[in-house]
Amino acid sequence: MPKKTQIMVLGSGRALPEKILTNDDLSQRVDTSDTWIRSRTGICQRHVAEPGTALSDLVTAAAQNALEDAKIAAEEIDLIILGTVTGDMKFPATACFVQAKLGAKNAVAFDLSAACAGFLYGLQVAEGLMATSGYKHALVIGGEILTSMVNWQDRDTCVLFGDGVGAVVLGPSDGEHGLLHSCLKSDGTFAKLLYNPGGGSLLPPATPGADPAEFSIHMAGADVFRHAVTAMTSVLQQLLDEAGVQTSDLDLLIPHQANLRIIEAVAKRFHLPKSKVFVNVDRYGNTSAASIPIALDELRRSGELKEGALVGMVTFGAGFTWAAALMRF
Ligand code: COA
Repeated sequence: MPKKTQIMVLGSGRALPEKILTNDDLSQRVDTSDTWIRSRTGICQRHVAEPGTALSDLVTAAAQNALEDAKIAAEEIDLIILGTVTGDMKFPATACFVQAKLGAKNAVAFDLSAACAGFLYGLQVAEGLMATSGYKHALVIGGEILTSMVNWQDRDTCVLFGDGVGAVVLGPSDGEHGLLHSCLKSDGTFAKLLYNPGGGSLLPPATPGADPAEFSIHMAGADVFRHAVTAMTSVLQQLLDEAGVQTSDLDLLIPHQANLRIIEAVAKRFHLPKSKVFVNVDRYGNTSAASIPIALDELRRSGELKEGALVGMVTFGAGFTWAAALMRF
């Protein structure tokens, strides 16, 4: 049986930029079509931040939303972990801007770089710190303005991504509800199948003669697809085995929302019916670290997550990093 829970979700929130970019909008920019994008990815539209938007503003809005939901004051937060690869600046950590904007003056704040796995990594890191450092309340957030690093001339990638933030407030578990188990994985040998080569110490932005395309997302789509299905399947199986839970015990699976075909392939391997697999990739595209917490917030606020529901979450992203978590709501 799963171990006793130490932490639980006390509240959640999300923030999406107002502007929506449809597949038809994209077909005005590159040689693509609504039919191709829908059939190959399941995506119909995505939210996009206006140029010059600070990720920290969106994150602050989602975090405030989550704090209100949890009825916790910003000063009561001891820890802020922000999973992101598109922070406001190289440094300081965007979580520090968020701490200041929230007035969470008692919180330790840092960013966590694990791409699409950032939120599930953040949950386990928070669990560990809360167990060892006496922190009572934590904000764990996944947030991205991925469109800030999209090459709008590259049809292979520009149709896939969207912007958004999801946040949860964690607190001590009541013993029944909360995080039951999680598994984190990494394999850097595949780093260059999905990466943004420019903008770091290796290829600084001011490099003379650098190709602007180097400062955007590069992806070997078919390889990433294959690895995503295999890795998400194996980590979810490991999670269930270690927690002593059968697939049929799951009330819901929240997979990372990158591509409907990846989601369906994973669901098929576990013989999960459509009704038990959450999908919103059609409305948001791939929001990376934000995809699972946005889904969680939608489900909590719509009342679809019933008291006592056993929920599996599974993700995969650049690094490669991948992870799974099991929660009782
Ligand atoms: N519109 C129209 N055609 C497109 C296109 C687009 N936006 N993007 C690619 N194509 C074309 C390709 O150029 C290729 O043409 P060709 O056969 O003439 O060479 C054809 O469509 C098939 O390309 P392919 O890459 O094999 O398609 P696919 O079925 O693998 O789908 C992805 C491409 C990107 C949707 C898919 O590989 C994928 O989702 N990969 C994982 C992406 C992901 O999840 N990344 C993040 C992980 S967190």
